[in-house]
Amino acid sequence: MWHAHVKTLRLDDGQATLILALHGKGLPEPLYFGAPLPADDDMGLAHALTSAFSKGSFDALPPITLLPEEGRGSTAQPGLVATAPDGTRWLTAFTLTNTEATATTLCLDAADEAAELTLTLDLRLEDGLLKAATTLKNTSETRPLLVSTLMAPTLIIPPTFTRMLSFGGRWTGEFDATEVPLTQGAIVREARQGRTGHEHAPATIVMEETTGQNRGEAIGVQLAWSGGHRLIVEELSDGRRTVSFGKYLRQGECVLAPGEAIKTPTLIAAHSATGLSGITQRFHASIRRHIGTQRWPRPITCNSWEAVYFNHDLGRLKRLVDKAAALGAERFLLDDGWFKGRNDDTTSLGDWTVDPIKWPNGLTPLIDHVHEKGLEFGLWIEPEMINEESDLFRAHPDWRLADAAYPPVPGRHQFVLDLTNPAAFDHIFSAIDAILTKYPIGAIKWDHNRPLSAASAEGRPAAMRQTSAMLALMDALIAKHPTVEFESCAGGGGRIDGAVLTRAGRVWLSDSNDAVERMRLQSAASLLLPPEVVGSHVGPRVCHTSGRILPMTTRAWTAAARHMGFELDLAELTDEEEATLRAAVAWHKQNREVIHTGITSRLTVPEPDAYGELIALPDQSRFVAFASFVRAPTRTASKPLRLMGLDPDRRYEVRLANPEAINTMLTKTPAGIAKAPVTLSGRALMAAGVALPLHVPATVFVLEGRAV
Ligand code: GLA
Repeated sequence: MWHAHVKTLRLDDGQATLILALHGKGLPEPLYFGAPLPADDDMGLAHALTSAFSKGSFDALPPITLLPEEGRGSTAQPGLVATAPDGTRWLTAFTLTNTEATATTLCLDAADEAAELTLTLDLRLEDGLLKAATTLKNTSETRPLLVSTLMAPTLIIPPTFTRMLSFGGRWTGEFDATEVPLTQGAIVREARQGRTGHEHAPATIVMEETTGQNRGEAIGVQLAWSGGHRLIVEELSDGRRTVSFGKYLRQGECVLAPGEAIKTPTLIAAHSATGLSGITQRFHASIRRHIGTQRWPRPITCNSWEAVYFNHDLGRLKRLVDKAAALGAERFLLDDGWFKGRNDDTTSLGDWTVDPIKWPNGLTPLIDHVHEKGLEFGLWIEPEMINEESDLFRAHPDWRLADAAYPPVPGRHQFVLDLTNPAAFDHIFSAIDAILTKYPIGAIKWDHNRPLSAASAEGRPAAMRQTSAMLALMDALIAKHPTVEFESCAGGGGRIDGAVLTRAGRVWLSDSNDAVERMRLQSAASLLLPPEVVGSHVGPRVCHTSGRILPMTTRAWTAAARHMGFELDLAELTDEEEATLRAAVAWHKQNREVIHTGITSRLTVPEPDAYGELIALPDQSRFVAFASFVRAPTRTASKPLRLMGLDPDRRYEVRLANPEAINTMLTKTPAGIAKAPVTLSGRALMAAGVALPLHVPATVFVLEGRAV
């Protein structure tokens, strides 16, 4: 047969299939990643997918392998860019040396003797997701290797996929998903600030022209790494499209000594034939399987930050705890301001001992009070940072991660502590360990409030090593204190990724707790993050980051859709606000099993600037649905909302959980659901839907359903 020289490899876990073609001894070419295919299709597919190729270039179309190499004729973005220190030895053409495979795992070893390199490609399928990483080893006995690019295995984008969801953002405005058309050339997203970043969530989704919330195909990819990263989506001149992801490396940042190896972070890829909902569900399963310690049920959390900022006063904080407890809080987290001399954000980072002036008797009086009220106690830290105005800096000015030859660049008045220096690492480990050992602390909010710009250690770029050291510090503290729940925060959502989420159990999605901003943010972030990891707090009446005044119903129900909490001076509540909040908290507690363990389906809300989701228990016996509207309705009658993800053959009783959100001034005749619960088959709820009440700008409606 014509293709007798082509062999194939496959991974199949019953939920997805990956088929690779082997051309001679080179690295394999990803042919197909998608819905399961019969095993006897593999060879036929290698034949069927062999493209015609025009004259005027190479004699044959070079395959796009898992690691595109110019040494094999590839003109795709290279998977590896490395040279000897003098600039030679830049080409590679790896040859497979060993293949170990099970149905769901594949480990490929390859070598390039001339380049004195070996390569290992690890691929596996888990819950229908492809997880893949590349390891490069310098086998030379004498020559170091300068690596400026090493990508996780490259994937092929099917030709019918024409759009990309590109995630941008900023402080207080994370997960800004923009649609970008795929055209010839490369789209490169680089996070160069040394942390995961508000600006470039380490993820993208590519999809067909007609892919929607619940229809069409899509492939989502993420990189599980908490540092700088580089995403490339490319269309080659021959029309083939690829997606690849790796760490962002600065020139000189990665030098492999003889015998040394480097491994990329894991690329996580999901295929969906059911639109963005399918991607959402697969990514949620992946985060849930590997999540760090989490308290269950997820405790309603009162955070002190926007309530008191740096003004820590025991009496005032006790009153906050009392009020929070009365409203149903189950955790109290003391945010920034508790450590030595920390009265504003210009000093004290590095001095992780309790401030003797604000806390003459230590934190015990507050913690005891929190415990007496039946709440867990949590504490804020920012261990990777240092202020010049601190005892630590005065003692160890050389522990700043900076190049002595240049002025360091401040951010929020602070600098980065060099965790690649073992002495600094040990010091900070001991300081945080001492706090966790001395006090009964159930939760830690771990912050990181500035980029790692110009991070330099021993004259070399150090952001990547700093990130690895930070993860090692987290690991060491978790190993010693395994029951503590860590929350990842970096000025809000600046460090949210699949690496930190194997350590943390919660993320602080954004420093914006403007509930209207949160509608978009929470909906976009839910492409990647299951609800139980996403902290969402009821903020002050006048939002501190936007100045907007929002009704309590909007603030409370927006928070109730995630891991709920409060972050405001609770003394400001009116009786009416308090009653609304109390009801939302009680409802959240009754329904959090659904929200925090359920399957999320994305809903199409037939209004502009509106967001919808339905979360159903895996057995589909109960569900909750949230519909959030930023703007006023476009028409005078409200529209039905079609639900998704239900059992078509069961009947559900559906009721409106928050009737107080209805604006009675606007409404002449109420929606059916506002008068009485609706009982319908899942089929009818999905095919026809339920008309919601009329909304006004900044409204959230919540439906609750039960199989009857
Ligand atoms: C960051 C966090 C906030 C708060 C402050 C404290 O901005 O995102 O939630 O913890 O730091 O300084």
